[in-house]
Amino acid sequence: MADALAPSVDQSTLAPMPETLTITDNRTGKQYDVAIKNGTIKATDLRQIKAGDDDAGLMTYDPAFMNTAACYSRITFIDGDQGILEYRGYPIEQLAERASYLEVSYLLMFGELPTAAQLAEWTDRIHHHMTVRPSVQDLITTFQSDAHPMSVFQSAVAALSACYPEAKDVASEAVRRRQEYRLIGCTPTIAAYSYRHAAGLPIVEPDPSLAFTENFLRMLFKGEGEYQADPVLARALDVLFILHADHEQNCSTSTMRNVGSSHADPYASAASAVGALYGPLHGGANEAVLKMLAQIGSVERVPEFIKQVKNHEALLMGFGHRVYKSYDPRARIIKKTADEVFKVTGLNPLLEIAVELERIALQDDYFVKRKLYPNVDFYSGLIYQAMGLPTGMFTVLFGIARTAGWLAQWDELVQDPDQKIARPRQIFVGPARRDFVPMAQRA
Ligand code: SDX
Repeated sequence: MADALAPSVDQSTLAPMPETLTITDNRTGKQYDVAIKNGTIKATDLRQIKAGDDDAGLMTYDPAFMNTAACYSRITFIDGDQGILEYRGYPIEQLAERASYLEVSYLLMFGELPTAAQLAEWTDRIHHHMTVRPSVQDLITTFQSDAHPMSVFQSAVAALSACYPEAKDVASEAVRRRQEYRLIGCTPTIAAYSYRHAAGLPIVEPDPSLAFTENFLRMLFKGEGEYQADPVLARALDVLFILHADHEQNCSTSTMRNVGSSHADPYASAASAVGALYGPLHGGANEAVLKMLAQIGSVERVPEFIKQVKNHEALLMGFGHRVYKSYDPRARIIKKTADEVFKVTGLNPLLEIAVELERIALQDDYFVKRKLYPNVDFYSGLIYQAMGLPTGMFTVLFGIARTAGWLAQWDELVQDPDQKIARPRQIFVGPARRDFVPMAQRA
């Protein structure tokens, strides 16, 4: 299945000659040399280590994949201790400052910043695919108005699979590219349709003559007359989309890769990734942060909440990270962006509670010892709320932005000759073999 156009990772560019690990199995006294490559050993090299003839050999046990690399990737690099995030080698700070979201989505997909002509073509292809089929529009309108927007978003993304059966031909680069245009192009449309439907407002069709986030804001907020997005808000949304575009092997991206490894089409894979993102420990945290801040209610009640967190009665949502053990570089940029947005929208009153929470947490040993810092979700919801979006839409916006990363990672997976269908093993600790018990004999 591997696409000859994308060579597998050239080992020599990654590390010098492989070193080895010598393992002594004290059960048998035997020794084994296992190759070390790029700081890893291949888990399957452990299968040779057996205690006896009927032994299947050693496996690794790594719940939640805390210390397991599932792939080689050239897309995103994170140094959690240094708080470094780079897309294809470019620091996130420079991209947020100087690029557009569509420019970054091109970089993630193809590995290089686009020329003006390449960006124009990429933008044109995506803008050409922003409309959503009537069947998907109808699906969105079947949801009751209080349906959670993430449920609607996930259902509509999955429904795209029924609209484009060609997408199953994942081996074809041209077919993959068309689906990538469609998904990046129409996720904002799906989001805006679901928002307008829930609000009882008429649908606003996409306007391909507008820039990506200007068009999205117009589909969301256009009233009776013409609508012109505030350039500060359009740019702030572009920056937020850049910051959320990819983040190497996070839960939703790993889900995209897992489902994609079965050669399911990219819509089915992306709908699964949306499901993973929905969780409050992942993308759903931006919504949970706003609920937490509203529940705290005032700066005076912050110490009481911190006490609840330290008693393990609550999580400080928007804090902590599996990889970052220092300040999430994205949170720093978002905080700066918030200041610019609030100059237009007016200050979000919950900001002072968030700032006080951060101030206390950054100096309290409980959080310092656990290396808990604000992550990308801590301040983003404050901006979305100030822009006029309901909390249920916050994670949908995360999903729109992450669509570029999910697709770039999926495209890399499909072309990677190292990859096969994902199928982890288990350690069986259930009952030994036993015979069926007739109903009359059951206790
Ligand atoms: C995202 O992976 C990615 O890259 C994700 C993401 C992306 O761009 O894709 O960056 C986006 O999902 C950001 C994370 C958003 N989630 C939250 O803000 C929810 C709150 N955070 C926590 O649930 C937690 O920090 C996680 C889930 C983010 C990370 O959890 P880990 O790595 O499994 O860490 P852990 O749960 O083992 O915690 C270690 C210790 C524990 O204390 P002890 O048992 O040692 O006493 O830290 C504590 C935890 O109780 N802890 C927290 C905490 N996070 C961890 N305590 C209070 N509040 C928190 N938020």
